[in-house]
Amino acid sequence: MLKINKLKKIKSNFPIIVGEKIISKKICNYLIDEISKSKNFDDMIMGGRSRINKGSKNFNKYISSSKISKKLFATFNTESFYKKIDNKFKTEFKANTWESLFKPKKFNQKKYTLKRKVNSKELKRLLGKNYKNPNLNLDIDFSVSKGGYRLRPHRDDINRIYNFLIYLTDIPKKNGGSLTLYKKKANKNLRKSFRRFPKNNELDKLMEFTPKQGSVIFFKSTPNSYHGVTRFKEKNCPKRFFIYGSYAFDKPVIWKYKNFEYHPYIVATKKRMLTSFHDSNYLLKSGNHAN
Ligand SMILES: [Fe+2]
Repeated sequence: MLKINKLKKIKSNFPIIVGEKIISKKICNYLIDEISKSKNFDDMIMGGRSRINKGSKNFNKYISSSKISKKLFATFNTESFYKKIDNKFKTEFKANTWESLFKPKKFNQKKYTLKRKVNSKELKRLLGKNYKNPNLNLDIDFSVSKGGYRLRPHRDDINRIYNFLIYLTDIPKKNGGSLTLYKKKANKNLRKSFRRFPKNNELDKLMEFTPKQGSVIFFKSTPNSYHGVTRFKEKNCPKRFFIYGSYAFDKPVIWKYKNFEYHPYIVATKKRMLTSFHDSNYLLKSGNHAN
């Protein structure tokens, strides 16, 4: 179903592999058709993205009535596929790369990251303090975005190891909606911390990917894996159909780069929001020195 061998690494400051025509046109069109037929979406976020999320009743209903989506989900939701991806990264990025301090113990097909609205105090309680012995699961959603959808530069949630995107429609460049990768400006002092939502002036644009039918991107969800989506304009253009997912731990990831450890800290807020929307910073563990 996916031509994983065609994925190649690109030059970036965090590990990322991309490829075109990883999924055939035919399969993409089937997937678009299935998402289009879905009458129910779980939520709408970021100004116009409708999602069907793993874990919802709606998702189970969607999967049971969507043959190709079911097949794709079944492929991704296995330990063997995770290992394939993990090994691909291991061979492409040998030395001096970002790694999780703890290796996952088991892959749990039924689990998914809870989507609950909590404040930061409640979130901290949920996460606990012991980040050892994580288990792994797949999170995935089938999405369609209309005009207005955009994502400011950010890094994904702290429990994620790999993120992936599958683009099902060709979007002309003038319509926006492209995935943009950013690099944190080189300033030695700044390497001690990686905020989840850096200011625009802290970032340099690295590159932009215009969604192309059948193209796939996997990237490690490292503390510096900053990305965003430019505003999507729907004029004379199909809707932006895509599949988004990640391999995630059931607890926060401590990231290691060379001998430096980065630990996540939740930013305090009284506001109740989805666990995955909370702000957090990765800070260099004291005792380590960045230079
Ligand atoms: Fe993201």
